Amino acid sequence: MKNHLNPLCAALVMLAGFLAVPASASIVNTKHNLSTSGTGTVVSTNESEICIFCHTPHQSIKNDNIPIWNHNLSTEVSYGVYTSPTFDGSSTIQDLGGTDATTAAVSNLCLSCHDGTVAINSLNNPSNALGSNPTMSGTGPNGEMPAGTSNLGNDLTDDHPVNFRYDAALYAADPSLNDPATLTGGVRLFNGYVQCASCHDPHESVNPTFLRVNNTGSALCLTCHNK
Ligand code: HEC
Ligand code: HEC
Ligand code: HEC
Ligand code: HEC
Repeated sequence: MKNHLNPLCAALVMLAGFLAVPASASIVNTKHNLSTSGTGTVVSTNESEICIFCHTPHQSIKNDNIPIWNHNLSTEVSYGVYTSPTFDGSSTIQDLGGTDATTAAVSNLCLSCHDGTVAINSLNNPSNALGSNPTMSGTGPNGEMPAGTSNLGNDLTDDHPVNFRYDAALYAADPSLNDPATLTGGVRLFNGYVQCASCHDPHESVNPTFLRVNNTGSALCLTCHNK
């Protein structure tokens, strides 16, 4: 009997391996692996956990709009908002600055590192194993995001608009958008709002720059814009 079960076990193991998420889709091989196993420029010298730089299972920053969050938020007062004569989101777009932890939007999570004002190792709940914030290499002089294109700074007025509602009313005002109710292809809205994570998945490694949709031929843009 035992001899007959072994091939079955082997088949199950193979099946499990086949069904598992491929390694290439994981955060492990991205610049967001800030742990000692990361291969980017900004990595820790003593923290082996990956998720902890952004999430903690306990004692997270209290906020009903964000997933159990561990990275201390920026206190930046104002990032400004996008404006143009043809932009139809002006009535709902809100400045991401000046928020406290309870009102922060998903984009504030990205800005907690990408506005370049908060140290990458500044955690609400440092790991039990270390008992203190991790030590890092590759950061800017004060532990923050190093200078370069990933350091967006505190001006979002020259970036694609975020933190505004993309709903039936906006679609009616701008027919060159695709209907937000039938968006396909992987982009994502948060409580009906466009945020940084509408276009980026911070855990993504298949497409360059964490994009939810590969932008070859501007496929990402054409997911929402019917141009
Ligand atoms: C560099 C920061 C960062 C790291 C590291 C990170 N996350 Fe996230 N995670 C985010 C952000 C930002 C969001 C909210 C935006 C979103 O949902 O895409 C999120 C959302 C989530 C969500 C809820 C939404 C969803 O997409 O399912 C889960 C679950 C999650 N992360 C799990 C993990 C796990 C597990 C790890 C470690 C293996 C991890 N994350 C590492 C930034 C990070
Ligand atoms: C998740 C959906 C989504 C994606 C993906 C997206 N956009 Fe947008 N974008 C919008 C919405 C919604 C607006 C607001 C449009 C309006 O004012 O009617 C907007 C606004 C804009 C504007 C400003 C319009 C104005 O009137 O000032 C431009 C330009 C633009 N997007 C270009 C792009 C480009 C280029 C890409 C790809 C790199 C892209 N968008 C990806 C949803 C998206
Ligand atoms: C805990 C800090 C942290 C958070 C939170 C974070 N990032 Fe990053 N991110 C980094 C670091 C560090 C890098 C690498 C910078 C470098 O090498 O110069 C990076 C790189 C990137 C890059 C460039 C990737 C490349 O291949 O060049 C993108 C895009 C990005 N992040 C988007 C996001 C978005 C969007 C969010 C929120 C959904 C987010 N990040 C949240 C720390 C963070
Ligand atoms: C409408 C889609 C969209 C939104 C919203 C968006 N991004 Fe991006 N982002 C992109 C695309 C596309 C690229 C790649 C640009 C390229 O390769 O030329 C990019 C590139 C980046 C990079 C890499 C550096 C660079 O300039 O190429 C960072 C860091 C980044 N985004 C962070 C953010 C953060 C933080 C937010 C929110 C404040 C955000 N993004 C909102 C589409 C978006």
